[in-house]
Amino acid sequence: MSHTEDTGSRRDFLYFATGSTAAVATVAAVWPLVNQMNPSADVQALASIDVPIDGVEMGTQLTVKYLGKPVFIRRRTQAEIDDARSVTMDDLPDTTSQNNNVAQDKDASDQNRTLDEAGEWLVMVGVCTHLGCVPLGDGAGDFGGWFCPCHGSHYDTAGRIRKGPAPLNLLVPVAKFTSETVLKLG
Ligand code: FES
Repeated sequence: MSHTEDTGSRRDFLYFATGSTAAVATVAAVWPLVNQMNPSADVQALASIDVPIDGVEMGTQLTVKYLGKPVFIRRRTQAEIDDARSVTMDDLPDTTSQNNNVAQDKDASDQNRTLDEAGEWLVMVGVCTHLGCVPLGDGAGDFGGWFCPCHGSHYDTAGRIRKGPAPLNLLVPVAKFTSETVLKLG
């Protein structure tokens, strides 16, 4: 090996060695940040849950806790469905579906809020979109849906804000039926 080749090799080695050190240092610095951003083990375990819904009677609501928040699972009566479907977008402060199961640009018509075509099943995160209280259900409020007593927000039978300070409809989380009697959240 000539002197020149030898020098070149040593330079390459030094270059790679330095580069590796830099890469290791970067990884070491980033890892704690990435690690903090990962959900904890108990949150990961609850990333999705199966909810048996066979005991939910028409006109009643089951509330389950999911990712630390209440989720309302309501089996609506035909009257509630008819009420929700007679509303036009002009009546709504928030005309977006707020449904994580449909495209973002879908409007807030009742059909875009419910899990099934008939509109029997309405699933929503039970957190008021004003400042986060849990609204009262079972026909509460001026629109027969939910009412948040904290500052007086009224939601209709599709969980859409109709009156009061809350700016948005109640959120429909990712959910689907995995059988006739089981609803999967997440
Ligand atoms: S938190 Fe619901 S109205 Fe303010």
